[in-house]
Amino acid sequence: MKKWRLDFRIWHWIHAFIVLGLMGTVFLRKTFLSWRTNSEILTQKLSEIDLSVTEAQAKVLATAIRAPLWEWHILLGYALAALLLWRIVLFFTQSGSMNYKHFKVKSLHKKMVVLSYIGIYTILTFMAISGLTIHFYEVLGLTKELAHDTKEVHEFVFFYGVLVFVPLHIAGVVVADVTEEQGIISNMIHGKGKS
Ligand code: HEM
Ligand code: HEM
Repeated sequence: MKKWRLDFRIWHWIHAFIVLGLMGTVFLRKTFLSWRTNSEILTQKLSEIDLSVTEAQAKVLATAIRAPLWEWHILLGYALAALLLWRIVLFFTQSGSMNYKHFKVKSLHKKMVVLSYIGIYTILTFMAISGLTIHFYEVLGLTKELAHDTKEVHEFVFFYGVLVFVPLHIAGVVVADVTEEQGIISNMIHGKGKS
């Protein structure tokens, strides 16, 4: 069983928490805090107390309710960018590089696992760079149109990248833990492996 150094374990769990948090902010934005749904609710409830608002006014109200949630998306986004930089530093430690050594002699399954990790890192790096680009488009001197197009790609990669790889990873380690690699998850918690 692998021996994970304390700093790598701390990195892994903060990183997992932050990525799941970012996914959570998107989930809320698309469901309970969706401006489309909420602007309809607001229009209807206001009309019940004899107040009428236009579609545009209802949208302003609904997006104002959503705004604090989205501040969390940005804050967690900064944290993700910092964690990815930390990951680069960790690569120079035994824990941070062991999965990527001796690739050629690994079984096909292990090769796929390693490739999936490289896939996760590539996707998250893209999410961090594109997210920061959308957020700072004015400072970067980009047009609103380009920021909008970047957002479309950022969203696309979320649905076809993050939403595929993260559940796959979690399901993968759970299956490994109950079959051939018992203790693989607790090992990422206590780190008492042998090699
Ligand atoms: C919450 C449930 C999760 C569990 C139980 C879990 C468990 C694990 C375990 C056991 C490993 C080590 C696998 C090995 O032996 O190679 C691992 C590695 C990894 N996990 Fe997770 N994980 C979780 C969530 C996440 C999330 C949300 C992410 C974010 C994308 C993530 C990203 C990674 C990455 C990138 C590695 C590879 C580390 C390396 O570079 O060597 N994990 N995880
Ligand atoms: C795992 C990482 C991330 C995921 C899963 C993610 C997901 C998403 C999704 C799905 C959207 C589209 C929301 C919509 O228009 O309905 C979005 C928008 C956005 N994201 Fe991210 N994102 C991530 C990282 C980041 C980072 C690192 C930043 C930068 C700090 C960021 C900043 C933004 C901004 C500014 C928008 C545009 C919001 C708007 O149009 O009002 N994201 N993100």
